Formats: sequence, structure tokens, C-alpha cells
Amino acid sequence: MRKYQFINFHIKENYYLIEINRPKQLNAINKGTISELKKCFTEIRSYTKGFYGVIITGVGEKSFVAGADIVEFNELDQESAKKLSENGHELFNTIESMPIPVIALVNGYSLGGGCELALSCHLRIATENAKFSQPEINLGTIPGYGGTQRLPQIIGKGRALEMMLTAEMVDAKSALEYGLVNYILDDKEKAMEKSVSILNTVKRKSPKAIANVIKSVNNFYNKDVNGFDQEIKIFSKLCNSEDFKEGVNAFHEKRCPSFKGK
Ligand code: CAA
Repeated sequence: MRKYQFINFHIKENYYLIEINRPKQLNAINKGTISELKKCFTEIRSYTKGFYGVIITGVGEKSFVAGADIVEFNELDQESAKKLSENGHELFNTIESMPIPVIALVNGYSLGGGCELALSCHLRIATENAKFSQPEINLGTIPGYGGTQRLPQIIGKGRALEMMLTAEMVDAKSALEYGLVNYILDDKEKAMEKSVSILNTVKRKSPKAIANVIKSVNNFYNKDVNGFDQEIKIFSKLCNSEDFKEGVNAFHEKRCPSFKGK
């Protein structure tokens, strides 16, 4: 297992835990963090058997991720800004298309690139002190890691525009109202328990079906494919799977299914 400089990577019994580990910078993600997260998710993707999800959070209580590392913005020119943005997009597309659920445990600040990281995850569980914002407008720019696209998908155009135009912080309670987070828990420990309990529920489902639910839902947002056509294809293909046969047999035999992911 690879060692990382900017993230902590833990292999738990049935899931992976990633912590962004730059607490002095409020876990702002620099180029190195993006590159390590890419390697880490590629590593996870190659070994999902027996693992039911990934939880990603920031070290400490104060901040999930306070955005892209603004120090690195000093040297940006048009070419390097394009590369930076493309790298972020590549990482967040990878996260969004993971075949196992990725949960963002949002502890404290989730700003700019941090909010975009949370948006690329499948579910968001917040602590009471969580605060979301797309403050790029204050720096004279726009979100560069997919925020202009994913935020309206999740909370709708009006609210997304308000967040991006005003840079105001949205607290956990409003984030729940907006549908930006799935749950709010008192603190990080409880948010972790909730995240693990969701993954324990997922654990009992067919891994093949889980991966395909994610794929099919993502198709809704992919302008190059017809999600309805793809759903028919995926549904019909899954009917040949052992998991489908097991699920239907278990229903008739009034027992819990035992899925093998085949
Ligand atoms: N990049 C680099 N360093 C950061 C940072 C960031 N995004 N956010 C915070 N830090 C650093 C601060 O510079 C400070 O470092 P020093 O102690 O060396 O001065 C340290 O973290 C602690 O921060 P503060 O002293 O500012 O803490 P605070 O509690 O007073 O304020 C905050 C917290 C409101 C989050 C404030 O730090 C802040 O506004 N940070 C910037 C947030 C931001 O604008 N994020 C968006 C970045 S742009 C982006 O992400 C673009 C994109 O889409 C690609």
C-alpha cells in the first residue's frame, strides 16, 4: 500500500477512509494533494472486492477542505491554470464514477475546491459546524473544479447561482434544506458512525447493482449519452447476472440474498 504526503489512507475492515492532511492550511488542496488523491482512487478502483465504499474527510474539526491552495495561484498563467483545472476535473470525474459509493464527511469548512470535492462524492454527511461556499468570485475568478456544473445539478440553478455570485457561506442547516447534504450530525464521531452505517447497509446489496446504479444515475448528467436508452441496456444486461438470479430466488424463498457481485 502506497504512503502519501498530503493524505492519510486507511484500509478499514470493509471500506476505505481518506483524510486530507494539511491542517495548517485548513486542508486546502494543492497540486500534490490532487495528484495523490488521483493515485489513491486509482488504487482503490483496482481493489474494490470486499470493500463497500470510501469515506473522505479532512483532518481535524475545523475544516474539510478550504479550497484550492491559493498560494499556488501566485504563479498561475493561462496554460498552467488550464492544466490545474483539467487535473481537478479528472480527479473529480474519477470520484464521481467510482463503482462503490464515496461519502464526503464534511467537517467544518467546505469552500471552493473543497465544496467541489464534496459535490463529486455520491453522498455528503455534514457535521453541525459545516459551512459551504463557492468564494472564487472574491478572487476574481470562477469555480474551476466542476462547481459551476455540479452545484446546479444538486441544489438547482437559482440557489447555485446565489452561492457563486455572493460567495456567502451556507451553514449545515441551510445545506440540508438545499439538498446539498444528506444528513447533519452533531460532531465528526457521529458523522463517521452515520457514514459507516450507510456503508453497512450498502454492504448487503449486490456490488454489481450498486456500481450500475451509480453509472446509470451519472448518465443523466452526461450530455453525450441517452440515459434512458442506457438504463434499458444496463437493466437487461443485469438480468443475466448471478446476483439478479440470487436476489429473485431469495425473494421467493423468503430469505436474505447472498450476493457475490457476479
Ligand atoms: N489556500 C491556502 N491557504 C489557505 C487556504 C487556501 N484555500 N485557506 C486557508 N488557508 C490558510 C491561511 O492562509 C492561514 O495560513 P497562515 O496561518 O499561514 O496565515 C491558515 O490556512 C488558517 O487560515 P485563517 O487564518 O484564514 O483562518 P480563519 O479561521 O481566520 O479563516 C477561512 C478561515 C474563512 C476558511 C479563510 O482561511 C479563507 O477565507 N480561506 C480561503 C477560502 C477560499 O477562498 N477558498 C477558495 C479557493 S479558490 C478555489 O478553490 C478555486 C477552484 O475552484 C479551483
